[in-house]
Amino acid sequence: MADFAPLKQETHMFEPPASFVKNANISGMDNYRAMCAASERDYEGFWAQHARDHLFWHKPFTKVLNQNDAPFYRWFEDGQLNVSYNCLDRNLQNGNAAKTAIVFEADGGQTTRVSYKELHERVCQFANGLKSLGIRKGDRVVIYMPMSVEGIAAMQACARIGATHSVVFGGFSAKSLQERIIDAGAIAVITADEQVRGGKHLPLKSIVDEALALGGCEHIKHVVVYRRTGANIQLAEGRDKWLHDVLASQSTACEPEWVDAEHPLFILYTSGSTGKPKGVQHSSGGYLLWAALTMKWTFDIKPDDVFWCTADIGWITGHTYIAYGPLAVGATQIVFEGVPTYPNAGRFWDMIQKHKATIFYTAPTAIRSLIKAADADPDVHPKKYDLSSLRLLGSVGEPINPEAWMWYYKNVGNENCPVTDTFWQTESGGHMISPLPGATPMVPGSCTLPLPGIMTAVVDETGQDLPNGQGGILVVKRPWPSMIRTIWGDPERFRKSYFPDELGGKTYLAGDGAVRNEKTGYFTITGRIDDVLNVSGHRMGTMEIESALVANPIVAEAAVVGKPDETTGESICAFVVLKRARPTGDEAKQIAKELRDWVGKEIGPIAKPKEIRFGDNLPKTRSGKIMRRLLRVLAKGDDITQDVSTLENPAILAQLKQAQ
Ligand code: WTA
Repeated sequence: MADFAPLKQETHMFEPPASFVKNANISGMDNYRAMCAASERDYEGFWAQHARDHLFWHKPFTKVLNQNDAPFYRWFEDGQLNVSYNCLDRNLQNGNAAKTAIVFEADGGQTTRVSYKELHERVCQFANGLKSLGIRKGDRVVIYMPMSVEGIAAMQACARIGATHSVVFGGFSAKSLQERIIDAGAIAVITADEQVRGGKHLPLKSIVDEALALGGCEHIKHVVVYRRTGANIQLAEGRDKWLHDVLASQSTACEPEWVDAEHPLFILYTSGSTGKPKGVQHSSGGYLLWAALTMKWTFDIKPDDVFWCTADIGWITGHTYIAYGPLAVGATQIVFEGVPTYPNAGRFWDMIQKHKATIFYTAPTAIRSLIKAADADPDVHPKKYDLSSLRLLGSVGEPINPEAWMWYYKNVGNENCPVTDTFWQTESGGHMISPLPGATPMVPGSCTLPLPGIMTAVVDETGQDLPNGQGGILVVKRPWPSMIRTIWGDPERFRKSYFPDELGGKTYLAGDGAVRNEKTGYFTITGRIDDVLNVSGHRMGTMEIESALVANPIVAEAAVVGKPDETTGESICAFVVLKRARPTGDEAKQIAKELRDWVGKEIGPIAKPKEIRFGDNLPKTRSGKIMRRLLRVLAKGDDITQDVSTLENPAILAQLKQAQ
């Protein structure tokens, strides 16, 4: 079994501020416990009530949960709704028409405000534009866009007409984009000429061109291009069109397409333990329900809040807590095009001050890099800014170490704001384990307790519950509405990856290790138990990076492991055997650079190994299996204390120990 050593556990508890508790949507632990008890007493009734209270159903559901084809669960299956109608039209009816939906701040600092009425018009127009191209319910549309109102409108427009979107993060390479286009069988790509980040213009449309030229994408009939910078790009006759041309003559009204609750709202590719990314498929009804509920519960959202989630729409966090959740509850949110360090590392604090953000949700990597920056330059320290508008902080994507938690709590939250360490995954659709800010006493480094209705547990490899204090495998014992429905095109992989027979076939395997505190029952996530790395909150499969490396003609073998990193949580370390003699000195440096760039082209810059070590061979067992466990120790720079008697070639360890 994997190493379940927990992070250094803090024991000090931080109570939520009394004023917060008083006004919270879920106030106090008694309320939290009562909600948990209600969900245990009548699981289906609990979810049905929330689904009726929080969503508009065009056709009300009569069935709540269908478990006949477990683990292919179906929620609210005979109900019909439209996600975009729930996010937009409902706000026009309930007095939010003139309310600001989005405060968009561009990389250069220009701010645009979009009201719910305007957003509704833009989405309707976009939806009509897509329809005019012949895009229909069930078609797949790939979105490869910068952070923009148009990117959100593109997602909402797909939802409005029942097309299933697949957003590909703008940092992925042409090859990664091509693979996702092919796997999804998409008929259109929506992109921009360029994206602007940190003062730099980066291409998007030319990468789409490259992806399509790689072949196999003949099903793409349309490429729609949003003009962001006015860069000179090529438009392929018949296939490519400017977004503004597509929208020019379209009406700003568009009847939504009513879809079944189980209709696939989107596919989002994420890394697993093989070389091929998994297309995580989400539903419409169950997904939106949890997006809305967690906005109310975890983020305690209120009508006057200014919510800011700094994620990119290319990741699940940007789906649930930018494109859908905030709109589903009629919130005002900030959307930011740029990066936290431009024009300087005070950008986040400056924007919180300027837009009077009340809820701020970001990743531990960002916090850690801003701690470093603030230490180096007092002018970008959060204390230099007026952050008094903040009332709640959140963290997502990776474990937050207690030191970073404390800094965030003290310097950004002024010891006045609860910090919600939200544990969840692309597959879970929304938060799973998190403090409720007006109820749960917080412990730095712990995501505390599951949300009401979420049945998480720590078990051993056979699915037996483990006592508190003992590290094991994190599972979810009952299906929940926003869970992954299948892996696009590969139901068998879905079953095997998430509902393995060893656990009985009906228990969801999260892929993380966890331990519960002996006294409080609080969960601490101990990290992935599969071959998935988490670098700066970006999920990457070691196998994907290995496949990319061995695709290079000079590489014979490669093994990739994670190495703890102070800022990015983990960093990528690759052990490589070349088809020629092992390089040393400057030659090794040169080849390492070439290979890094190669991985950047194959997958995207986020997957570039930080470190590459060359060897004559890799440590293998007599049956030829690479012992990655030993490589992890070497990458860390530690001495090997484990038993290496099963190793075919123990001498290789000394060679690989040296960083090059
Ligand atoms: C990790 C991101 C510890 C975990 C929303 C999980 C976390 C993976 C936390 C999912 C947290 C996410 N504490 N670890 N609060 N949040 N993780 O799919 O390993 O990009 O399985 O979803 O990130 O990453 P994904």
